[in-house]
Amino acid sequence: MSARTPSCQLLERDAFADDPDFAGFCAVEPPDDPWLLRAATHAISADEATLERWRSADRPAASPLDPALEAVPAAVLFWPKALKLAGWWLDWLNRTLPEGTPLMIVGENHGGIRRAPKMLAERGQTSAKRDGARRCSLFVTQTRSPDASSAPASRERFEADGMTLVSHPGVFGHGKVDEGTALLLEALEAALPRTPLKVLDVGSGDGIISAWLARRGHDVTAVDVNHFAVDATRETLAANGLKGRVLASDVYAALDEGERFDFIVSNPPFHQQREINYGPAGRLISEAAGWLTRGGRLVLVANAFLPYADPLKHAFGGFDVLADNRRFRVYQAPAR
Ligand SMILES: C[S@@+](CC[C@H](N)C(=O)[O-])C[C@H]1O[C@@H](n2cnc3c(N)ncnc32)[C@H](O)[C@@H]1O
Repeated sequence: MSARTPSCQLLERDAFADDPDFAGFCAVEPPDDPWLLRAATHAISADEATLERWRSADRPAASPLDPALEAVPAAVLFWPKALKLAGWWLDWLNRTLPEGTPLMIVGENHGGIRRAPKMLAERGQTSAKRDGARRCSLFVTQTRSPDASSAPASRERFEADGMTLVSHPGVFGHGKVDEGTALLLEALEAALPRTPLKVLDVGSGDGIISAWLARRGHDVTAVDVNHFAVDATRETLAANGLKGRVLASDVYAALDEGERFDFIVSNPPFHQQREINYGPAGRLISEAAGWLTRGGRLVLVANAFLPYADPLKHAFGGFDVLADNRRFRVYQAPAR
């Protein structure tokens, strides 16, 4: 099977699989490309859907936050578009892998890969460009153990709405409250009954919605596909002395069969990296009724231009608009 993503096509044409240095390499934050499942021995990713894909193909896969990581003889980092996150991965690889581990870095030119040599140099690593094609570049270097004193603080804290929010590079809304989320919380203040409810927050990010709900006494379950977001949500709840269940989950995948919620709330994703992707939001809406109690409600906020009215009508038969500030709209759909 041939590679289908540009980064993997570059790796495939480079035939580095024959390079003894890279035998048994680990794919770090890999894209969805079946070619990789043959070319790499295992994967490290913060994305639960990616980990599930590798595990269901019987290939070892772990989150970088997993304490029990397998030894890695060589690694290929798929450069993320967010520069802070790219830096986090370089630091993580340098801290986690033995000094001198062969490391390749591949990514799309418009995704910031050209910054890699400078960022490596800042970490004392020399690098060489090994290949370029398909609007991608491939660099080769080796890990370099950082000084013990230079361990970067990966989590950041900030204050919003009287709460401490903990975030992490690569987590949505890093360091600020999203305008859509603020409108959603304003609408929820009026729409949510004061009695304690069982509430599911889908795509919890830094945990702002979960913490807001837990602070009002609701029994919160938070899910996010991104392990950095799961960590951030847990830390946000803890930083505010709040409780909640937080799961790494591709939309509803990690929930127990038969669970029911009084409310499902979400500021759903519509991007993956920078590409528009309605897949998770589509599943959030189309499968919501199966996770709601009778009379339970789905409340979500979205940019006003996003096409959620039809899927909501299709799944619920109708919906109300709880708030609309022209840029964002808060929808409420009751389970029949
Ligand atoms: C727009 S952000 C909202 C974050 C946070 N709730 C807020 O309001 O600031 C969407 C979140 O959905 C998460 N996400 C993306 N795809 C997902 C999926 N398939 N399942 C669960 N969460 C997902 C992202 O990691 C991100 O944290």
